[in-house]
Amino acid sequence: MTNKTLDSILLEGRVFPPPAAFTARARIRPADHERLLAEAQRDHEGFWGRLARETLAWHKPFTVTLDGADAPNFRWFTDGEINAAYNCLDVHLKERPDKTAIIFESEPGEVRALSYRELAAQVCRLANALKADGIGAGDRVVIYMPMVPEAVIAMLACARIGAVHSVVFGGFSAHSLRNRIEDAGARVLITADGSHRAGKLVELKAAADEALAQGCASVGKLIVLRHAGNRVDMRPGRDVWWSDAVAGQPDHCAPVFVPSEHPLFLLYTSGSTGRPKGIQHATAGFLLGAKLTTLWAFDLRDDDVFWCTADIGWVTGHTYVTYGPLAAGATVVMYEGAPVHPDAGRFWDICQRHGVTIFYTAPTAIRALMKHGEDIPARYDLSKIRLLGSVGEPINPEAWIWYQHNIGRGRCPIVDTWWQTETGATLIAPLPGVVPTKPGSCTLPLPGIDAAIVDDDGNEVTDPNRGGFLVIRKPWPSMLRTIWGDNARYLSTYWARFGNRYYVAGDTAHRDRDGYFWVMGRADDVLKVSGHRLGTAEIESAFVANPRVAEAAVVGRPHEIKGEAIFAYVVMKGARPTGAQAGALAAELREWVARELGAIARPDDIRFADNLPKTRSGKIMRRLLRAIARGEAITEDVSTLENPAILEQLRGEG
Ligand code: PRX
Repeated sequence: MTNKTLDSILLEGRVFPPPAAFTARARIRPADHERLLAEAQRDHEGFWGRLARETLAWHKPFTVTLDGADAPNFRWFTDGEINAAYNCLDVHLKERPDKTAIIFESEPGEVRALSYRELAAQVCRLANALKADGIGAGDRVVIYMPMVPEAVIAMLACARIGAVHSVVFGGFSAHSLRNRIEDAGARVLITADGSHRAGKLVELKAAADEALAQGCASVGKLIVLRHAGNRVDMRPGRDVWWSDAVAGQPDHCAPVFVPSEHPLFLLYTSGSTGRPKGIQHATAGFLLGAKLTTLWAFDLRDDDVFWCTADIGWVTGHTYVTYGPLAAGATVVMYEGAPVHPDAGRFWDICQRHGVTIFYTAPTAIRALMKHGEDIPARYDLSKIRLLGSVGEPINPEAWIWYQHNIGRGRCPIVDTWWQTETGATLIAPLPGVVPTKPGSCTLPLPGIDAAIVDDDGNEVTDPNRGGFLVIRKPWPSMLRTIWGDNARYLSTYWARFGNRYYVAGDTAHRDRDGYFWVMGRADDVLKVSGHRLGTAEIESAFVANPRVAEAAVVGRPHEIKGEAIFAYVVMKGARPTGAQAGALAAELREWVARELGAIARPDDIRFADNLPKTRSGKIMRRLLRAIARGEAITEDVSTLENPAILEQLRGEG
């Protein structure tokens, strides 16, 4: 991390105590917090065991809380049996079957509400349809859907019968979809004809067809939801409309109770190699983390209308659109489209019309909406909102203050939640009725979470002026269990760095004098572009898949709205393009990468070079590339460079 960022954060001295009126009604108050911290400190395992018993509905109670025999492949609640869909649906049907579970709004403006009873019936019908196709416990189902209730229904239908879902973000390309289907060995793919995004049609079925045409031999069935109404080709024998698949299926389906450790889902995420990893979560532990943190960090109450704007294709959509709030019996809002369609008031319009009380989004969305000015949110009645959340990347203090002032109207606590696909649920976040907030800090670990900052040798860093690696020292129930099909990669990525002693998150952070955590960013070659996680190696391999590209190196540079932008250095086969030719080629390569990986990976800057700065042993000196992309001076020794003259060219001067 640079001294400049550290200084600016240390200067950020504002503190916002929880509003007294909020604390008075909060689910967790200061005395509860102290009690929970003390309990976790005294007996980590007993603490989680008690919460698991009290929070979830068990088919068979567990007697073993934590099994560390194969650490760091930890197992939780091992001899218990449970069903996640039962916990999200059936438990509510007796007391409040008619409570609204989902309020859905499409981008063109269709609004639909589903009660818990209706949601359960639809889940059961799809679960029965999957069963009729021979899908059962352990089979993988890939879901490639827009943000519609049927995406949640598909997830819960899988959970109902013990099938393992893997949701692939609808913005990913056919190529990315195919890689994920093949890695998971999915038997079924569930998609929609299309989806609406920023006034345009996204042709999901066409992308699914393309993915299946390229391979994916394991897929025998493609279930297609009619949503956008665009024309699609249906292949007889393989493709079936959702409505036909569920026609005649009973709206009751007995849940398949699975052992706690049974995989609930895989979710692919980028790492520092070109191949995305299938993060595998276990049923009971994940569900516990999702539900408990929804109650704690969002202070969820029965009358709340909870809106997490994340897409179902990311972990935030799993934990805080589907499993957490539904297990807690909340009313959730789902919105299909873009935040700026038809204008930058869309989010606030939805909040006003549906009476949203808890609003959770990403800093990149806040920054994008900020650009449109304060007048826009000022037009809307946001008086029902009582709590705001932020996730996905560090939030800059300026955006935090804007959010607090213009959306929270100075009244609402902001919970800045730090977590990852791998952690399953929020680990570091302020309890909104207890912990004073500081703009830009995710504050303190939740009870039961032993987070720390360590140096290169694994020793804890306590000096508030020093940064280090963010690690978690004790296992927690919602942690990932492994990487699908590659446990060696699980061990080497998350544990090997400090001899299996700590879970290594891959982030750098520091703690201030009050013990507050300030996350600085990733320590590895992972970028956060508009809150989306992208591996530089993945983007580089997309470049070199182009037959005219010889070599590429990708780094991040700061971006006002996206957080980070993708900056690529490209060496073409043959002569280095210049002038108009370079411009045309850059445009072409930008589209190429977007097609290979999805529009979220479209590079922002492309700079052509004769070669890349390498050490004599052939290693690309990324630090130099990062400095150039950021327009920073190069302060380090470049004498080990094989080709020092290249630096001028890379700077655009050669
Ligand atoms: O770098 C951290 C950043 O997002 C990474 C995890 O990305 P992903 O698995 O896509 O999950 C995002 C949603 C949970 C982390 O390693 N990150 C996430 N939340 C925060 C954050 N950085 C700072 N503050 C946060 N609140």
